[in-house]
Amino acid sequence: MATTAIRNLSSALFPRQLDNSRPCFLLKRHTTTIPPLSRRTFAAKTVGAPLPPLSASSTTATAFVQETKPKEAVAVEEERSSGNNILACPICYEPFSLISDRVLSVDDAPRSALKCNTCKKTFSGKETHLDLTLASGAQEYGNVMPLATELFRLPVVSYLYERGWRQNFFLGGFPGPEKEFEMMKDYLKPVLGGTIVDASCASGLFSRLFAKSGLFSLVVALDYSENMLQQCYEFVRQEENFPKEKLVIVRADISRLPFVSGSIDAVHAGAAMHCWPSPSAGVAEVSRVLKPGGVFVATTFILDGPFGLVPFLRPLTQNISQFSGSQTFTSERELEDLCTACGFVDFKCSRNRRFVMFSATKPS
Ligand SMILES: C[S@@+](CC[C@H](N)C(=O)[O-])C[C@H]1O[C@@H](n2cnc3c(N)ncnc32)[C@H](O)[C@@H]1O
Repeated sequence: MATTAIRNLSSALFPRQLDNSRPCFLLKRHTTTIPPLSRRTFAAKTVGAPLPPLSASSTTATAFVQETKPKEAVAVEEERSSGNNILACPICYEPFSLISDRVLSVDDAPRSALKCNTCKKTFSGKETHLDLTLASGAQEYGNVMPLATELFRLPVVSYLYERGWRQNFFLGGFPGPEKEFEMMKDYLKPVLGGTIVDASCASGLFSRLFAKSGLFSLVVALDYSENMLQQCYEFVRQEENFPKEKLVIVRADISRLPFVSGSIDAVHAGAAMHCWPSPSAGVAEVSRVLKPGGVFVATTFILDGPFGLVPFLRPLTQNISQFSGSQTFTSERELEDLCTACGFVDFKCSRNRRFVMFSATKPS
């Protein structure tokens, strides 16, 4: 039992072991053309040639990645969101008052201080990020999370993440950050120009792509691991001409998001949900913070095969999850069910072996 549990945990966290099952396949595909941009506040304008119409596969459809070419840059016309109007106290969810009159961004984090007028607690910025976890500022108390969360807090894992660890996901069917980014742009089309939270961003591989793309007015790179956020900060600092004013780096727990309800246009969670202590608490929080019409797009692993087919293996996966703190998803239907239970509609997904990318929408 313990051996199986450890094997399964390592499968979820080191996906190279996963790649022994189904080959890439195409299933029935329902294609829906995404309607033209409808967002008012942050209308996005194409520079140069117009983008071709984008499409996304719906419900359990699983056609996989078309060859992707770089698309034209999109400029955000509207005034930039400063982040001041979206951040909320993680204790009571009331909006913060910003003590210093600063726009929140990578460079300003160390000098920022956020005060909750209800709880009377002040959250001070650190060198690399804003710490908006519940226990931020505690001197003696240290919050210990399940193994799958704690693993990524280790300095060595954080350092290695973009230097080999993430590349392993390819063996589970992940196409790689650039292609994943191209794929998810289809799903994010209705919310381009808005604010996006890259939840569980790790070292910020997607946060940086989002910020540099110019497709969003503000990007929040959010993770529980302070060492991952340190890496994210270092990568941003090293990159020339990085649009730092577009990025805010925040430490927070996915089950307690420091955002005003209904304030965010899009949430991305790449390869993360299986690591969350409670995917339902995480997805419910994502649902809470999204605006009506807001989009949640995520990738994760699906362990089907024997786990999905043999009835007695299902309770076993739950035991393993309890031990390891990592969730085992066994079908697209399970993910759709989770999203629906948390108030989402319009579930769409693409699948390649263990890899799944899906989106779900907050009802308007
Ligand atoms: C496998 S990494 C995924 C990183 C990245 N998004 C990607 O696509 O490669 C999973 C991330 O989830 C984060 N994580 C785990 N538990 C979390 C929690 N409770 N709240 C926020 N992030 C969490 C970890 O710190 C880690 O950086």
